[in-house]
Amino acid sequence: MKSIWDKFKIKNIELQNRIVRSATNEHLGTKNGIITDAYIYVYKNLAKQGIGLIITSHMAVSKNQRADLTHICINEKENYNKLLELTKEVHKYGQKIICQISCGGRRASKIFGDKALSPSGNDNAKIMTKKDIDTCIDSYVSAIKVAKETGFDGVQIHLAHGYLLSEFLNPFYNKRTDEYGCSIDNRYRIIHQILSKVNDIILDPNFLITVKIDSTLKNDNIDFIKDQIEICKLLEKDGISAIEVSGEDFRKYKQNKPYYLDNALRIKDVVSIPIILVGGFRDEKQMNDALLSGIDLISCCRAFIADNNFIEKLKNKETSRCISCNKCFEIYKTLYKRCIFDEQINRGLYANFNND
Ligand SMILES: Cc1cc2nc3c(=O)[nH]c(=O)nc-3n(C[C@H](O)[C@H](O)[C@H](O)COP(=O)(O)O)c2cc1C
Repeated sequence: MKSIWDKFKIKNIELQNRIVRSATNEHLGTKNGIITDAYIYVYKNLAKQGIGLIITSHMAVSKNQRADLTHICINEKENYNKLLELTKEVHKYGQKIICQISCGGRRASKIFGDKALSPSGNDNAKIMTKKDIDTCIDSYVSAIKVAKETGFDGVQIHLAHGYLLSEFLNPFYNKRTDEYGCSIDNRYRIIHQILSKVNDIILDPNFLITVKIDSTLKNDNIDFIKDQIEICKLLEKDGISAIEVSGEDFRKYKQNKPYYLDNALRIKDVVSIPIILVGGFRDEKQMNDALLSGIDLISCCRAFIADNNFIEKLKNKETSRCISCNKCFEIYKTLYKRCIFDEQINRGLYANFNND
């Protein structure tokens, strides 16, 4: 009988249980994208809980393509020693940590205007030239190398939620007519080119290259999952170690139940690499049921925001107090608080840290 408390192995990396902390942007970078002590403190506290796999907040591969000012940039030299410190702190507790890497795409245009890049130039962002695409590929390659050198157990390439690489995959945003647009192979091309350049790392049994994908779109009047199933086959062929299944529309679901389960199972049917499912999990029974239906790992974000002892709660058969109100998206950025329920676990906790 499968349980979230089972150990699980991906390549040579053994996870102490099947629970994943999904990537969560804590907005704890400085205004220049540099890691703060508060950020490291958050991960140390997550590691203490005993989570099988911790995925960091998304980190930008390029300083000028960040989605917001506090978005940490992995390729900034000043972050190198801080990344080493981060992985060392997490490993002290025997936990595994992978780093999510992203590029803001059209979302970066909110702060960088037309310096932001996107496949077809939506929302003020500039249409990417072939040279921009090559530079972007190099930034991803560099980020993967930095993650490996600084002690991460792997990376997660962010292919979801409207950031740059998901824009390439999404036919609503990608209107290109060159070799990067139209067909599935073309929309996938930039990802294939990144992966081809890190082939030696892909073959390393001690380092995971994973992805997070959308299985639905916000304006889903096409059968996007059909395309994504084909994309997942290509990802597996290119050596990806695991796929986390999400959806662009995750904020609209108010029910605390795994709303992408059916899509994730459709993907599971066509690939043999582990499938991580995220979205809506709040208690142990839901999680074990999803494992029994075929999912390999269960990923949670908001439950870890609402409950800083979520693992303990699961062990005690308690349900997270998260009600999916989505207020955390705003209060994370603006107030010294993380959750509407949160009177104590607020940024007062980080008062000794300078976040400027
Ligand atoms: C405050 C906040 C920040 C998030 N930051 C990220 C992120 O950096 N990268 C990412 O892929 N998803 C991010 N997400 C989405 C979550 O990882 C997850 O996919 C989503 O919240 C659904 O899972 P849940 O129901 O367990 O919260 C964020 C979600 C929240 C609420």
